[in-house]
Amino acid sequence: MSNIVKIKNKIGNFKKTITVPGDKSLSIRWVLFSSLANGTSTAKNLLMSEDVLAAIEAVKKLGIKVIINKKESKIFGKGIDGYKYKKNLKINAKNSGTLGRLILGLLVNSSNTIHLIGDKSLSKRDFSRVSEPLSKFGAKFRLRNNNFLPLKINGSSNLKPIKYSENKGSAQCKSSIIFAAMRTEGTTIIKAKKSRNHTELLCKYLKLPIRVKNFKNFDKIEVNKVKKIKTLNYDIPSDISSSAFFIVLTALSKKSELIIKNVNINPTRIGIITILKKMGVRIIFKNQKTYKGEKKADIKIVSAKNIKAINCPPKLNSGAIDEFLVIFLVAAKAKGISYFRNLSELNQKESPRLKWAEKILTNLGVKTITSNDSIKIYGNPNLNLSLDKRVIIKNYLKDHRVFMASLIAALSFGGKWTIHDKDSINTSFPDFLKIIGKLKK
Ligand code: S3P
Repeated sequence: MSNIVKIKNKIGNFKKTITVPGDKSLSIRWVLFSSLANGTSTAKNLLMSEDVLAAIEAVKKLGIKVIINKKESKIFGKGIDGYKYKKNLKINAKNSGTLGRLILGLLVNSSNTIHLIGDKSLSKRDFSRVSEPLSKFGAKFRLRNNNFLPLKINGSSNLKPIKYSENKGSAQCKSSIIFAAMRTEGTTIIKAKKSRNHTELLCKYLKLPIRVKNFKNFDKIEVNKVKKIKTLNYDIPSDISSSAFFIVLTALSKKSELIIKNVNINPTRIGIITILKKMGVRIIFKNQKTYKGEKKADIKIVSAKNIKAINCPPKLNSGAIDEFLVIFLVAAKAKGISYFRNLSELNQKESPRLKWAEKILTNLGVKTITSNDSIKIYGNPNLNLSLDKRVIIKNYLKDHRVFMASLIAALSFGGKWTIHDKDSINTSFPDFLKIIGKLKK
């Protein structure tokens, strides 16, 4: 089957209700926490994507039994000290930064050397951001060129608590340290710039020894050694990052309306909603509920009429970090110049996303001024590509979000698009094209 998608027409108007798959961050965390629990944990609506399957493979290698099932998956945890560290164990995090970084926190006490590898994209990403603080607990690391995968970790049986300042706004770094602290006698103290707080919420739900104090610009987190983890039966809400593609497609399409059911709207994840509302897009939450500390709701979006440019406050960056490629598409259609800054983290993702944003916007005929950590977008409310304008998207390190954002650009603005590496969507959202198909009917 061809791995290329060709788009020749904009999408017509639609009025639909859809469901997107389970949240990726929560799915991976369910796998990791359940692997440490005493007994059998279950998950409904677990995201069946390559990143989550890689997490499942990883815990299986550590001796944990898993049954994957569309309706309900099960993990048979063996307790906090239940992992088996066989000699020369190799864990493959594939494309997943979340898995690669979080699992290292859980391996700080391994009794044998463990090798962590990843795919081409993950092997270009910085792992010293977790190996450095984790080595302060007492684990030993060897990384390729001191920064990259493949790496080796040698755990310690004599871990010492640390004081750690997380200043990138990275939930992966913060969570990795929380996991290591759960294995360490004494109190680890983390001062963390605001970022998604799923790990802390799960710790609280599981009644683990964690204390979180929220300040205006950071959180202070104290973690003590965990003795026992109860099982975690979780009905995973849908992923706002997957929803984002459809939120933007609806906003940019004429006479359209969409409801996305049962989406995780954790306040640390809804930067895209805040930003788009400031730009004049109409979005409302319906049926809001709280579930195991997380918030969820149905999201309703209608076509946007007059999109306003935005000078985006950097404090919204972390809560929208995975959504910027599509947020920039909205800015491309805004009246005026939008400005997004302090975004160096975007170039640390599965591909250098700020650079890819510039390429996609240039293909759309939109002027940008881009630096290493900022982008100015000169919006055009009448943006529309001529029927014969050709755009080819390829060699983007198979970054799932570059593929999906390009497809949304094609369906929103027209032109003749050839987008390579369709299989990149398997990382986070294998049903993406199926749902696009539903909106076209
Ligand atoms: C994630 C954290 C974010 C995000 C990633 C998922 C998580 O990464 O981009 O898709 O589940 O903790 P950073 O922590 O590197 O910002």
